[in-house]
Amino acid sequence: MSYFKILGFSKEPFSTSPDPDFFYLSREHETALTNILIEIRLKRGLSVILGDVGTGKTTLSRRLIRELKEREDLVFHIILDPSFDNEELFLTYLVRNFEIDMLDIKEPTILDLREAIERFLFQKGVSENKTVVLIIDEAQKLTDSTLETLRVLLNYETNEYKLLQLILLGQLEFYSHIINIPNFFDRISFKYVLNPFNFDETKEMIEFRIRQAGYQGNMRLFLDEAIREIFEYSRGYPRRITMLCHQALKSLVLKNKFVVDRELIQEIIDSEIKAGWRKKDSVLFKNNF
Ligand SMILES: Nc1ncnc2c1ncn2[C@@H]1O[C@H](COP(=O)(O)OP(=O)(O)O)[C@@H](O)[C@H]1O
Ligand SMILES: [Mg+2]
Repeated sequence: MSYFKILGFSKEPFSTSPDPDFFYLSREHETALTNILIEIRLKRGLSVILGDVGTGKTTLSRRLIRELKEREDLVFHIILDPSFDNEELFLTYLVRNFEIDMLDIKEPTILDLREAIERFLFQKGVSENKTVVLIIDEAQKLTDSTLETLRVLLNYETNEYKLLQLILLGQLEFYSHIINIPNFFDRISFKYVLNPFNFDETKEMIEFRIRQAGYQGNMRLFLDEAIREIFEYSRGYPRRITMLCHQALKSLVLKNKFVVDRELIQEIIDSEIKAGWRKKDSVLFKNNF
């Protein structure tokens, strides 16, 4: 029997997969999500979300997709790893994944590919009145050439709106990349930085995930002193919080205990430090860069 069933859960509460059901809407995550949805609705073009590793960008994108799936007036695609070596590969990828008609051209040139994509954007966006959304995760991997292609695609517009809605989610270093490309940076219509959680959010996130996993027990599993310790060590990074909580619950079962207290968390942290894990300082950024 899995450890979480022994503890009275129906699902694993602290899995690190980006499951939208376990996505706790912190104030920052909610602001990001709401604004992206508004930008898509208004067809403003480009949104950029930045955040350190493990702040919840990929999970946010899954949650966004869940919202987008509800709508019939949308055509969307997500790229999880945008490492394209050249423009041709990127354009070919888009043509394939948006199932764009190449009008029987056997060996399309870059120009053919661009024209096909432009035709597609006008067909969907104007004739069919649909919104085309492209989400790109790990945007820090985008090369200058791909960014330039995206900039060209963002130029396709009617008098009122952009024909492609582009959502980029990337690590903080992406900022220093795009700030040096003014004609790309200036096109950003919504920009936001996801920061790690504060203590209250850490606590709410843990309690939220426990509830979502169908916890049947009637005791509080994590004492406040334990959550305080988790917060200090994780510095509020959701991925680290999740991993610590996962280990804490496993160790509860192994030790035949019922509540996670400070001591138990300290033991886990001590063994992590012994195993060579380092504390990483969180760098706080303003949300608007
Ligand atoms: N808002 C959130 N609520 C609950 N868990 C979260 C949240 N954000 C992130 N997590 C957890 O942290 C892990 C890392 O998040 P992820 O989206 O992969 O971060 P990033 O893409 O920014 O590196 C996720 O797998 C998930 O378990
Ligand atoms: Mg990610």
